[in-house]
Amino acid sequence: MEAIIRPDKESAAKLVEMIIAAELRRNPSMVLGLATGRTMEEVYRLLAKAYGEGRLDFSLCRTFNLDEYVGLQPSDPHSYRYYMNERLFKQVNVDTRNTHLPNGLAPDLDAECRQYEEKIKRCGGIDLQLLGIGKAGHIGFNEPLSALLSRTRVKTLSPTTVEQNAEFFGGAGNVPSRAITMGVGTILDCRRCILMATGYGKAAVIAKAVEGPITSMISATALQLHSRCTVVVDEEAASQLQEVDYYKWVFENEPEWEEFR
Ligand code: GLP
Repeated sequence: MEAIIRPDKESAAKLVEMIIAAELRRNPSMVLGLATGRTMEEVYRLLAKAYGEGRLDFSLCRTFNLDEYVGLQPSDPHSYRYYMNERLFKQVNVDTRNTHLPNGLAPDLDAECRQYEEKIKRCGGIDLQLLGIGKAGHIGFNEPLSALLSRTRVKTLSPTTVEQNAEFFGGAGNVPSRAITMGVGTILDCRRCILMATGYGKAAVIAKAVEGPITSMISATALQLHSRCTVVVDEEAASQLQEVDYYKWVFENEPEWEEFR
């Protein structure tokens, strides 16, 4: 794992956009793993801008999202399908048939989860998975005690997650109680992971995810097992990390990061 600290949330999003853009230019038919949440909004805005300016082409790209609520129509503004359509898919030239989210309305949810895993496999696996992090440390909707080798399945949302998403639904009582999410094992199979977090609200959980012991209580800690995981944070989200100077030195000096500095 490596941690990259940018001065503010705008430059953190810019770096994530640059990493995705570089991968997409190298491999136009890449399989891109996507995430939702407030943190990603700026990344999608920048990707759409790059497309608008003729700097990116999504026509051959395939996408898989991490998760979707159970029971919401795709036309529901709270669904992750709606979020993705509005924030990215309608803004770029991706073929919507190549965009995948779990179907939270499937009559047989377990079968849907199995099929989602198969679809990822048929596409050759995910090249780059974008990840946010919940306040309690989940990636996707891998809530506390998610098995570190779990696959796509239905999870019941924890009270912390319900609380965190309540403002979008006009109160905790309206938040769906379940979601389909890629498992921790599904995420660990991706060839590259980018975890992004910004703001003081994420500082404590970022310190645990990056420098704390691996535990199924905080599914993001499993990323320490991944051989190519980059954590991109702003100064605020980095404020409780121990080895800030070392992480900054690596970013400033490693040749790998030259084109991104
Ligand atoms: C939801 C999503 C996660 C996301 C998290 C953080 O729980 N399922 O994938 O990482 O929200 O969202 P935000 O970026 O709004 O803090």
